[in-house]
Amino acid sequence: MSSLLVDNIGELVTNGTGEGPLGIRRDAAVLVEEGRVVWVGPSAYAPAADRRLDAGGAAVLPGFVDSHAHLVFAGDRAAEFAARMAGEPYTGGGIRTTVGATRAATDDELRATVRRLRGEALRQGTTTMEIKSGYGLTVADEARSLRIAAESSTETTFLGAHVVPAEYADRPDDYVELVCGPMLAAAAPYAKWVDVFCEQGAFDVDHARAILAAGQAAGLGVRIHANQLGPGPGVQLGVELDAASVDHCTHLSDADVDALAGTAHSDGSGTRTVATLLPGAEFSTRSPYPDARRLLDAGVTVALATDCNPGSSYTSSMAFCMALAVREMRMTPAEAVWAATAGGARALRRDDIGVLAPGARADLVVLDAPSYLHLAYRPGVPLIHQVMRNGVTP
Ligand code: NIG
Ligand code: FE
Repeated sequence: MSSLLVDNIGELVTNGTGEGPLGIRRDAAVLVEEGRVVWVGPSAYAPAADRRLDAGGAAVLPGFVDSHAHLVFAGDRAAEFAARMAGEPYTGGGIRTTVGATRAATDDELRATVRRLRGEALRQGTTTMEIKSGYGLTVADEARSLRIAAESSTETTFLGAHVVPAEYADRPDDYVELVCGPMLAAAAPYAKWVDVFCEQGAFDVDHARAILAAGQAAGLGVRIHANQLGPGPGVQLGVELDAASVDHCTHLSDADVDALAGTAHSDGSGTRTVATLLPGAEFSTRSPYPDARRLLDAGVTVALATDCNPGSSYTSSMAFCMALAVREMRMTPAEAVWAATAGGARALRRDDIGVLAPGARADLVVLDAPSYLHLAYRPGVPLIHQVMRNGVTP
């Protein structure tokens, strides 16, 4: 069994024991064996190891956990982005454009896109990435989207209820029946989660409840696109169904915030349902940002994710999302880093990632900077010096 010591870490973010909410340790080292962290402590007391990785006094963090991404698609919508920047609103209507391109693509074309984007994210420090279907919207196209997603992630999500496809436009009830029946049956073997875009123009609360409940009955965990384009019942439906995460949360009422706060664990460790904020979407649709401060002050656990997709947020950069969260959403740099690591893990109901402590997966990033603060302080700068996933530096 070979061991690896990541040594000479100037500032180690553990999200476990250490100083402050990020559990910071200085002059630290991390010992890795068989893809797991087995020891964390002061460099001066580090055990012997077969190999050594010198962090050069830089900052080391848990790898980023991107808990919301739509990577299985074909084509791009750069022209739609340009039109928005010239004043057009975002309505979600472009989803159908991507559905057409995705249905026309070969498996290999879809696979190449997923791999390219997953690789792009990994080089930027993302060691776990959730991947959704949702641009196939036929039984066969949703199943193949998830089959291809599952080649690149264990965190796969069935989003057959992304929009009602054009051929079902005047009979949405029939489409919901298809999603709950044969489409779910074909998708479930490759999916861990079920998701619905609960929004005006997509799925109403009754359709969303039926689809999420069917997914739950098939053994999938629940997550939901909620309250993105306007106020609505999505967040409260998520809480009702014990969703791991309600995503977007751009337009929340006091009752929505209260409902999320009401899922708090009794040990003070935050809420069972996480609010996942996706500031790349507000950036790319020129929309008002969600109020992270309001959620955090109410005790709601917050995650940050990219929403990487060709329509509303074509970024794979968690660092960019953290910078936006700090500048535009009143999160502190420490809150943003926590939300992009431990928060993402919580949104996936995982305790083996997003943290650097004995037993956790050896997923970490070495920055080209002395402190995690630089992630928001130096926006747009490639600060990821090295990435380790499962104890391996790819
Ligand atoms: O999360 N809101 C729904 N789905 C995506 C957008 C997808 C698209 O525009 O293609 C989102 O923003
Ligand atoms: Fe999304």
